[in-house]
Amino acid sequence: MEKEKVVVLTGAGISAESGIKTFRDADGLWEGHDIMEVASPTGFEKNPALVLDFYNQRRRQLKEVVPNEGHKALVLLEEQYDVTIVTQNVDNLHERAGSSKIIHLHGELSKMRGVQYPYKIYDCSGDIYVGDVCKRGSQLRPHIVWFGEDVPMIETAIAECTQAAILMIIGTSMQVYPAASLINFVPQSTPIYFIDPKPSVNESAYQNLTVIAEKASTGVAKVIEELVGF
Ligand code: OAD
Repeated sequence: MEKEKVVVLTGAGISAESGIKTFRDADGLWEGHDIMEVASPTGFEKNPALVLDFYNQRRRQLKEVVPNEGHKALVLLEEQYDVTIVTQNVDNLHERAGSSKIIHLHGELSKMRGVQYPYKIYDCSGDIYVGDVCKRGSQLRPHIVWFGEDVPMIETAIAECTQAAILMIIGTSMQVYPAASLINFVPQSTPIYFIDPKPSVNESAYQNLTVIAEKASTGVAKVIEELVGF
């Protein structure tokens, strides 16, 4: 029998307990920076060295953090469901926890590309500096979707959502589009579980919504227990 499809939309909150800071908890600053300074094409044009260094530090941090109970619990779901993770996170903690199908809506720290070649992506494990170029001679930059840029994976994520038998949303403020609009693409009958200690969702707008106002580590475990009986 075919497994039912579970789509899991994750945000920064699922990685918070691994020690990675969320975006909107510190007055809109991301590790001390205005988000537009380090996550926009204009920010990069203005100060490429600062932006590259910022992501170099984020990439280095990946080596110091590990997946937490929230990431790990999602792997257990695969025993009974066809699970697709749609993450806004640029870390690699879902992969390292063992999830098998992951769509990165906002790119990945462990990938890079030439500024002029958005679709030729390379693996990236070290630092990127001003003057480092891709094979075609274009300045390298992290493979991150910055504000104002296209979100190429959104169509794939929408297609997954339209087929979802269950939707889980974990640790996101639902403030960034188009990611936040994915909740509107699941069939009306699809149960939605929203796990976030400070959930920001209009509860009256969704018939089948269950809000679990908890951290990912405990909240995800509760939903998994309900869905698979672990
Ligand atoms: P935000 O920082 O906007 O929201 C983080 C959410 O995580 C909040 O709702 C918190 O309540 C919640 N949270 C905090 N600790 C948690 C925990 N232990 N368990 C579960 N939830 C917890 O982050 P995102 O919604 O992911 O884009 O932000 C979306 C996008 O905006 C990011 O992908 C990023 C940013 O600008 C880019 O960098 C392109």
